[in-house]
Amino acid sequence: MTAVITPRPEPVRPDSPYRSYVYAYPHKSAYRPFSHPSPSTTRDGEPPAPVPRSGPLLSDLWRGEDVGALSLYTHIPFCEMRCGFCNLFTRSTPPAEQVSAYLDALERQADTVAASLPEGAAFARAALGGGTPTYLTADELTRVYDLTERALGVDLAAIPVSVETSPATATPERLAVLAERGATRLSIGVQSFLDSEAHAAGRPQKRAEVDRALAAIREHTRAGLNVDLIYGIDRQDARTWAYSLDTALEWEPEEVYLYPLYVRPLTGLGRRARDWDDHRLGLYRQGRDHLRERGYEQVSMRMFRRADAPEAVGPDYCCQTDGMVGLGCGARSYTSTTHYSFDYAVGVGQVRSIIADFVSRDGAGLSRAEVGFRLDGGERRRRHVLQSLLRTEGLDAAAYAERFAARPESDFPDEFAALAGRGWLVREEGAARVRLTEEGIAHSDAIGPMFFSPDVVALMADYEAR
Ligand SMILES: C[S@@+](CC[C@H](N)C(=O)[O-])C[C@H]1O[C@@H](n2cnc3c(N)ncnc32)[C@H](O)[C@@H]1O
Ligand code: SF4
Repeated sequence: MTAVITPRPEPVRPDSPYRSYVYAYPHKSAYRPFSHPSPSTTRDGEPPAPVPRSGPLLSDLWRGEDVGALSLYTHIPFCEMRCGFCNLFTRSTPPAEQVSAYLDALERQADTVAASLPEGAAFARAALGGGTPTYLTADELTRVYDLTERALGVDLAAIPVSVETSPATATPERLAVLAERGATRLSIGVQSFLDSEAHAAGRPQKRAEVDRALAAIREHTRAGLNVDLIYGIDRQDARTWAYSLDTALEWEPEEVYLYPLYVRPLTGLGRRARDWDDHRLGLYRQGRDHLRERGYEQVSMRMFRRADAPEAVGPDYCCQTDGMVGLGCGARSYTSTTHYSFDYAVGVGQVRSIIADFVSRDGAGLSRAEVGFRLDGGERRRRHVLQSLLRTEGLDAAAYAERFAARPESDFPDEFAALAGRGWLVREEGAARVRLTEEGIAHSDAIGPMFFSPDVVALMADYEAR
């Protein structure tokens, strides 16, 4: 997964196309400690007492699960800087001792998780995300590969592996490790090829470093390249946006992700929310058309893939149903009924204390799921719809019927009627496939939240109110 973005809570216009980036359902802000209902405040308004460590054992959660094609996500919560727009779970420039303590804890966790998975667990794909995994030195990256392969018995060179990197950290030595270990996709955040725009978004970036990093990726690896760009930055316009898109395309990236900016630029505070929405929507349409005219296929609102790029080779994996094993204190894990993680925060102080807590744990202290969300049948249906409908290929009604013995439109009549009413829905092949129209895809971040359950909406609102 390239990005784990949490839009900072800010008032959003009810008809804004930019309500919430739904990359996973439910969002982590709907997770709660498992065995303790957690009020955000006590009756007298005092903060609640700390919740004692408890929760189901991982071995109990994974018992009986289909583990033949798992996905592995390893989270490295460190960066060389803290970008003003970014709300990911990460801390900048940690002390070197904390990085090695983190890798020690990762190793204890990997052993504990491996012992908790049923016989026959196999991984079909893996990702190293962050933060910035290449904040780690070449030796530390080698250690992450070694510990994961040893503990989980996975050959990472034999499956598709995606790694996130940044301009300052994509150095030849680190890239050499990733190339040697067979990374198949490298994703780099560029945001803008104009330093002034990157700075305006809150990222102190130098263009020379971006160029050096892209050249190094192409020279030292054969991995597919993904470039992240952001639109909606203050003073970004059609001309500067086209410049960033064209400059990215000079590197012939296999993928390009176009992210609408989700944290209001400071200098743009005086602008009306509607103007900013219109700014983003205009740049979105321009970016989409620009890439399509140059041989890229749109996969979702954010993702574009070069039409002639080779498909990732690896065992079959179906993100709708297959499980995910997360390692690291910011990673999520999914069984068929339970989503869980270590703990969750965005604020600097909380992120630091969660990392400190993680590195202090022994293996037994990492053997339980502490924070998470249990998905009942209704929530699983919502998740399935979200994961299909927000992609251009849409929702396969037969696959849905096979899984849930129902038609999606019977399960969600109001939502589908509302989409059809806006002209955002197409039914193909006698309703065998339901797809969003081009305008529907443009409004993905407004459509996603329509499918959130009332429980999830309440939990997320309660989290944001804290
Ligand atoms: C893990 S980072 C990419 C790797 C690396 N850390 C870097 O920044 O170069 C994930 C991506 O999410 C996007 N992103 C993060 N926060 C965002 C926000 N508030 N609005 C729009 N895009 C955002 C950025 O494009 C960023 O490159
Ligand atoms: S380097 Fe990447 S992950 Fe780190 S703060 Fe910046 S955008 Fe976020």
